[in-house]
Amino acid sequence: MSLPRETSAITLSLSDENATAALAARLTPCLAPGWVVHLVGPLGAGKTTFVRAILRALGHTGPVKSPTYGLVELYPVSGLNLYHFDFYRFATPEEFYAAGLEEYFDGTGVCLVEWPEKAAALAPGADLTITIEPRPDGSREVRLTASTPRARQCLNRLAAP
Ligand SMILES: Nc1ncnc2c1ncn2[C@@H]1O[C@H](COP(=O)(O)OP(=O)(O)O)[C@@H](O)[C@H]1O
Ligand SMILES: [Mg+2]
Repeated sequence: MSLPRETSAITLSLSDENATAALAARLTPCLAPGWVVHLVGPLGAGKTTFVRAILRALGHTGPVKSPTYGLVELYPVSGLNLYHFDFYRFATPEEFYAAGLEEYFDGTGVCLVEWPEKAAALAPGADLTITIEPRPDGSREVRLTASTPRARQCLNRLAAP
């Protein structure tokens, strides 16, 4: 017997920030303690905007600023500890350990990571990778890639009609 193939990637076109917010709101119910989400894309792609939309969907009403200088911001919201990281300023991947960041990835929080590639192989693996690419017309092409069973389950729910 063959089971239906699980969805491991979805590509979407998001015409504006409202579309980004709507997608974030649909993804948010998947998030649970231990989830790691990587956000990949050039400066200005909309990574921080996506994180902000997830936090709004969880009920956070305060500001959401880029954690570029602090490396990590904690948002306790909806019973979750949501950690927002930005590794953009890493000169070398070893800064991940030098900054003592691995202890945040202990499975108790939800970790959203901008610029995970700056930590290279030291970055804890993602359940879900969100790749955002700006298009010349200002829209965004967004690819959601699932790397764990729970993320594939999430994408299956998202893809269901
Ligand atoms: N569809 C879209 N999704 C997300 N952001 C968008 C979109 N269209 C335009 N933007 C704008 O692009 C910018 C993205 O900035 P930001 O989220 O800080 O990028 P990053 O964190 O990837 O560097 C914001 O000014 C946002 O308003
Ligand atoms: Mg950012």
